[in-house]
Amino acid sequence: MAEGALRGPSDYSQEPPRHPSLRINAKEPFNAEPPRQDLVASYITPVDLFFKRNHGPIPILDDIGSYYVTIGGLVGRPGRLSLDDVRKLPKYNVTATLQCAGNRRTEMSNSRKVRGVGWDVCALGNATWGGAKLSDVLQLVGVQYHTEITPSGGKYVEFISVDQCPEEKGGPYKASIPLAQATNPAADVLVAYEMNGEVLKRDHGYPLRAVVPGVIGARSVKWLDRIDIIEEESQGFFMQKDYKMFPPSVDWDNIVWSTRKPQMDYPIQSAICSMEDTNVVEPGQVTVTGYALSGGGRGIERVDISMDGGKSWFGAHRYQKEDVPYVAGDITSDKWAWVLFKAVVDVKGYTEIVAKAVDSSANVQPESVDSIWNLRGILNTCWHRVRLLATPNLRSFI
Ligand code: MTE
Repeated sequence: MAEGALRGPSDYSQEPPRHPSLRINAKEPFNAEPPRQDLVASYITPVDLFFKRNHGPIPILDDIGSYYVTIGGLVGRPGRLSLDDVRKLPKYNVTATLQCAGNRRTEMSNSRKVRGVGWDVCALGNATWGGAKLSDVLQLVGVQYHTEITPSGGKYVEFISVDQCPEEKGGPYKASIPLAQATNPAADVLVAYEMNGEVLKRDHGYPLRAVVPGVIGARSVKWLDRIDIIEEESQGFFMQKDYKMFPPSVDWDNIVWSTRKPQMDYPIQSAICSMEDTNVVEPGQVTVTGYALSGGGRGIERVDISMDGGKSWFGAHRYQKEDVPYVAGDITSDKWAWVLFKAVVDVKGYTEIVAKAVDSSANVQPESVDSIWNLRGILNTCWHRVRLLATPNLRSFI
């Protein structure tokens, strides 16, 4: 497929400023996540604290007068759209959580070494994305709603960026989604130009990015250059040689990448964020807060907390907006967004607190990391455990 003419920088000399409290997991390319407590301090994640996941230098597309997204491939009438053209389409605000498939990779690597940038539990964020629906954008080139295959055989939509990624030998980041999802207005796939009511920041894809709700973050391509209708899934590195879930028996000596499909929806996930792994606190009551989410628009049916390693459980309070009761699947809930949870527990001595979530299809997080271990360390969704030492006379202990 033809690639566009725009190119991002090839070095890191022009990176944007970033919030000082982000935890930097890799400097070049820049990969960072917020501290745990900051992540769950609000339902909508502030842009500055939103995790940043990059595979190359951040593009600069300031000359907006010469910026176009080319739409082509297997369509009747290819075209190109300026930012203004996209802004003229009906605008939608979709609150959706973007989660990197590598979220919680460090914990998986601690069990058995994996390759990839280490992430704690905060490689995700919840934002209100503003933009045009991809289904409306595709109508402009003659592809109707609910099309699964175009007359010329197109079955996927490929997003092509302008950044230069070493994994693509200096070429752009690419990913694809099925045409049926792209042309379904209810799937809420956006060509977004706003994040939390502000113009997208460079770090998050200015001027235009794809937002694919309910799907691993890797498919929400930033800094769009082209949108192509293609016959097969994108052959890009990040679709074919990465972001695939292999069984624990596969290692770097026997891996055959073509045996697995690219990962799309993310599975049921939750994590406790109100404390680090090794907090020291006064004995007594402690408030446990965290997030739970599931892919494909599935809601969160329960978040269970255990204080005895999983022998007994009780339900945590779940919420999106503090004053509106959360009910999975209810029209008042944000279908594509995380659910925060809260529980008050008593702690004394060495205490382990465990969280696991259940989604509206009754999918449950697996107990152990070993059963889902995979060589790239993606989709670590095992029960989340934090350990505390609750000791009196904290001041003298410290
Ligand atoms: N798009 C481009 N062009 N380049 C990238 O490196 N990273 C992807 C996705 N889109 C990436 C990209 C990955 S792996 C994730 S998890 C999300 O962007 C992260 O989006 P964010 O940095 O806005 O949080």
